[in-house]
Amino acid sequence: MFSSRFPWRAEPNALSRLLAEKQAAGVAVIDLTESNPTRAGFSYEWDEIAAALGDPRSAVYEPSPAGLLEARQQVAAYYAARGVAADPAGIFLTASTSEAYSYVFKLLCDPGDEILIPAPSYPLFEHLAGLEAVRTVTYPLHFDQGWLLDVEAIRERLTPRSRAVVVVHPNNPTGSYLKAAEWRELSALCQRHGLAAISDEVFADFAFEPDPQRQTTLAGTEGPLVFVLSGLSKVAGLPQMKLGWIVVAGARDVRRQAAARLEWIADTFLSVASPVQWALPRLLAVGAEVRGQIRARTGRNLERLRAAATPETRVLPPEGGWYATIQAPRVRSEEEWVLGLLARHHVLVQPGFFYDFPAEAFLIVSLLPAPEWFDEGVRRLRIEFVEVAGRGME
Ligand SMILES: Cc1ncc(COP(=O)(O)O)c(C=O)c1O
Repeated sequence: MFSSRFPWRAEPNALSRLLAEKQAAGVAVIDLTESNPTRAGFSYEWDEIAAALGDPRSAVYEPSPAGLLEARQQVAAYYAARGVAADPAGIFLTASTSEAYSYVFKLLCDPGDEILIPAPSYPLFEHLAGLEAVRTVTYPLHFDQGWLLDVEAIRERLTPRSRAVVVVHPNNPTGSYLKAAEWRELSALCQRHGLAAISDEVFADFAFEPDPQRQTTLAGTEGPLVFVLSGLSKVAGLPQMKLGWIVVAGARDVRRQAAARLEWIADTFLSVASPVQWALPRLLAVGAEVRGQIRARTGRNLERLRAAATPETRVLPPEGGWYATIQAPRVRSEEEWVLGLLARHHVLVQPGFFYDFPAEAFLIVSLLPAPEWFDEGVRRLRIEFVEVAGRGME
């Protein structure tokens, strides 16, 4: 009766079962996976947001498939502030970055076509692609001081059904940015094989340090067909506003063909609400302030996490984003680590296998939690690391 788009297991895993038990027993769990900025104690100028959403221009419905021109001009201004000219004619508003993926997959793929995605990376790709009847093929990122893109490994995985390569810039959870030299190689590969690049830049504004080797954004590039995806969810710490966007880049001709088809898709759904579009200039202004708070928080929490590392554990240095990866001793599996931490210390972290790390044992923590929670969570992690190391020495 149902579509074959639902191949994944729906049962809760051992970690969510244990979490549900703890919560049912009233245990206060320290959640080091919290990645919802509206629940992490940041201060938002709510009066300003509410006033912006009450703009009387929303009283009249003006269906506009790509999004209201005024709103697309705001997105263009966001890129102009980063030194990139993005033509509003190549900007499409969506309800979220996730929806932006669904538009781009519809645009590029027939059922059964393939999209290359990095590993480790954001686990939702498989679902987003699966719902469009598109297959994902993972390509590895290699860790050697930092995380490196292996363009040869991408080339080896191409098949006649490959349509696009996803890069996450910076990646979730590794925090690694695409470097300009890597982009040169990847764009040559995409052009040679007629592939598009999809650049997920939701965390691009959250670098810990500047790096001249880094590619700023793929918006405004003129090589292969490129779709840059981002949105208010991360850029402004406002996921509930439901506004994302696609910026189309690449050679003019193919860019125009892609834009005409994206307009068709967007016209079918008209999914973005008017109030958020009219409010966009003020939401971006409020968001810039929230972004500052988030950057200060992630920087501070990363320092605390690094300071808590034991000789047996290592915090892999993220260049940006909202997450950190801890490499823990392999005396235990990732599942044993996360279940042990939750069972004994009531602290929740994610195992690397949620993100498709190539080996064990990696633990992922969010750098968003409020300082008092984060510090207490990290203190408990350290107790466990020290205890396990002590046991290993016996
Ligand atoms: C890499 C990455 N892309 C996209 C998204 C989804 O963003 P949105 O809330 O705009 O759908 C997330 C959310 O965590 C993410 O980590």
